[in-house]
Amino acid sequence: MSITKESWGETKAGEAVDLYTLENANGVRAKIATYGGIVTELYMPDKDGNMADVVCGHKTLAEYEAGHPYFGSLIGRYGNRIGKGKFTLEGKEYTLAANNGENHLHGGDVGFDKKVWKAEAVESDNSVGVKLTYVSVDGEEGYPGRLTSTVVYELTRDNELKIDYKATTDEATVLNLTHHGYFNLGGHDSGDILDHVMTIAADRYTPVDEGLIPTGEIAPVAGTVMDFTKPTAIGARIKDVAGGGYDHNYVLNNQDGSMALAARVSESETGRVMEVYTTEPGMQFYTGNFLDGSNKGKGAVYNKHAAFCLETQHYPDSPNRPEFPPVVLRPGETYTHTTVYRFSVE
Ligand code: BGC
Repeated sequence: MSITKESWGETKAGEAVDLYTLENANGVRAKIATYGGIVTELYMPDKDGNMADVVCGHKTLAEYEAGHPYFGSLIGRYGNRIGKGKFTLEGKEYTLAANNGENHLHGGDVGFDKKVWKAEAVESDNSVGVKLTYVSVDGEEGYPGRLTSTVVYELTRDNELKIDYKATTDEATVLNLTHHGYFNLGGHDSGDILDHVMTIAADRYTPVDEGLIPTGEIAPVAGTVMDFTKPTAIGARIKDVAGGGYDHNYVLNNQDGSMALAARVSESETGRVMEVYTTEPGMQFYTGNFLDGSNKGKGAVYNKHAAFCLETQHYPDSPNRPEFPPVVLRPGETYTHTTVYRFSVE
């Protein structure tokens, strides 16, 4: 297994960015940029041993800086939406950027996906990795408290991409860190993901309003187009989903904070399988509904449904929903979250 580091140039603001390459003995390779903690490439074998890059993204830092829909990025401080960009914590109201209609999305105008993280290589018997650290100052993007986040990406011997998140604060705050990989198990340039077969370990989900803010209801998936409790093609009922496809938070069956299977996805032509394990109580299933061909990445044109995202998380708008699992972090506490994307073939 190996870890290599190369310079990836500078941001427009003049910050130096590095690109780490993690490789295991199976020839599986992940490239991770210190800008946004972006997984820019992820090469996985198919059933015949052929490698393909299974994540959407761009080739250069300049293309990422020019704007993209969070391809492969780390998301913070708050993954997904906060209604009207407002919440109250310990009696004080906070106002965040309304960067998605009237709502706040993925941490605001300059979220963690656009920050340059400090990085160091990390290695264990079982893995090669990179540990990323970012200190978000008090008031950044409107959030209270100085928040120190570390994210360790590891590529294991068993073709897993493991992500370990930790964070501490000096003042009560809210957070919801996640990873926004856009996966296509046929290869990032292979067309749409409608034939991929999805299983999600969730009997319930959080219905949303037109602005994609949860209504507060926790609804059963049974008997609806939301039901992926049994293996089902992503495209089987997608035409009947309001809003052009799936963009919903699933209430994972496992709610006790231990690692549990959240989803399994397979693609029959290549035989590639991806399983997602997480400690989080929720997962956003997003089918690239807003991809429109304008994102030409790594030589491919990404049209609607060119990829799917499985963002392990707390539920959207939790800061305004006391009935949802809590997202408040206080001084002296440590936020933890582990997610594993495990790849295999069948
Ligand atoms: C959101 C989508 C959004 C996408 C890209 C997902 O997490 O739920 O609504 O378009 O991220 O920003």
